[in-house]
Amino acid sequence: MNKINIGLIGCGTVGAGVIKILKNQNKLFSKKFQTEFKIKKVCDKNSAIAKRMKLSKSLFTTKIDDILNDKNIDVVIELIGGTHPAKEIVLQALRSKKHVITANKAVIAKYGSELFKEALKQKKNIYFESSVGAGVPIINAITEGLAGNTFKSLYGIINGTSNFILSEMTHSLCTFADALSKAQKNGYAESNPTLDVNGMDAAHKLSILVRLAVDKIIDVKNIHVEGITQISHDDIKYAKDLGLVIKPLAIAKTANNNLELRVHPTLIDEDHPLASVNGVFNAIFLETDPMGDILLYGQGAGQLAAASGVVSDLVNLATKGENIACARMKNIAYEDRSIKLKQIDQIETKFYIRLLVTDKPGVLSKISGILGKHDISIDSVNQKKQKKTSSVPLVMLTHLAKEKKLRIALEEIAKLSLVKSKPVAIRMENL
Ligand code: HSE
Repeated sequence: MNKINIGLIGCGTVGAGVIKILKNQNKLFSKKFQTEFKIKKVCDKNSAIAKRMKLSKSLFTTKIDDILNDKNIDVVIELIGGTHPAKEIVLQALRSKKHVITANKAVIAKYGSELFKEALKQKKNIYFESSVGAGVPIINAITEGLAGNTFKSLYGIINGTSNFILSEMTHSLCTFADALSKAQKNGYAESNPTLDVNGMDAAHKLSILVRLAVDKIIDVKNIHVEGITQISHDDIKYAKDLGLVIKPLAIAKTANNNLELRVHPTLIDEDHPLASVNGVFNAIFLETDPMGDILLYGQGAGQLAAASGVVSDLVNLATKGENIACARMKNIAYEDRSIKLKQIDQIETKFYIRLLVTDKPGVLSKISGILGKHDISIDSVNQKKQKKTSSVPLVMLTHLAKEKKLRIALEEIAKLSLVKSKPVAIRMENL
């Protein structure tokens, strides 16, 4: 029987889930993997956790060094989140000859290269399945299941909180604030939920997926990111009238060594499988060669979903053995420097535009004139009926348009006296 001694750093929602799963599956793991997964030490800065979780005095500590300096600990599970001191903990754990498992997307996105290099040097492994999609095995799928494929595009709903909020707003007409508060209560949101709703959490995850799928190392600062805070019930409703759904998508597309990356609310056809991914569920749709299209779907946030990914890392570590650490780290650290990142200005998409305009003759021709002048072709126009007001919402869909031209046109349109509020533009994808 193998024995893996674990040091768990950070015992919040996910940490408690890991302890729960290891306890519940103890017998199965002994039989199936001939391994005893033993939690040797749990560290958290909040000592009240020990009491709440009924952890013995010898098991619990508030000092990280009690784990990092313990020669009998084989693997450190880092679950504190954020970049610092998480980065330093991971480096120190590797230098102390311990494998690392982390669910921390921010630290892998920002310091992945440095951490993988150190892991290679120390001949240790870093596993990070739960950093994207919680227990949905997307890291494993890209690095192992689909190894040998090239990736043409990736469309991911990879922030459970944003998807939960938009779903609640769509299906229960919940307000943004109420939906966010529910997501927080359910343990889906980050400790700083701004990262969820402003798209940064998804951007961290996208950069991790792109590193693995496309071999391009991306600084998240270079990803165009828009959150879901500007999405209104009106846009959700008007989209529905058009057979469309608004989803918080992370998008990567490659063509001719160019890479397009963006995170933003996106309109997609209501018949596409991603359109029915609701609540806290995540899904990643990949166009690969030679395998073709693949869709991975499952709960992307929450205690047991995230803990499931961490436990799968533990099992992989235990069953695949130390000798694969270098090969795995080398594959993960590989970079193709020939790939160039496209700027957002250069991309082309279809757009949904909503304007609030004065309802009088000539308005439409003025607006379509400006769009036409900037090479933006209109696909459809719909004026929404409004009772007792002189201003009406005008909803337009465009054909493929250059982002830069669209922005210039909208600035010009916004200046017209007949336009009564800031124009709304949401990108559309034909999947
Ligand atoms: N806050 C994250 C989300 C948790 O909502 O997706 C999982 O990474």
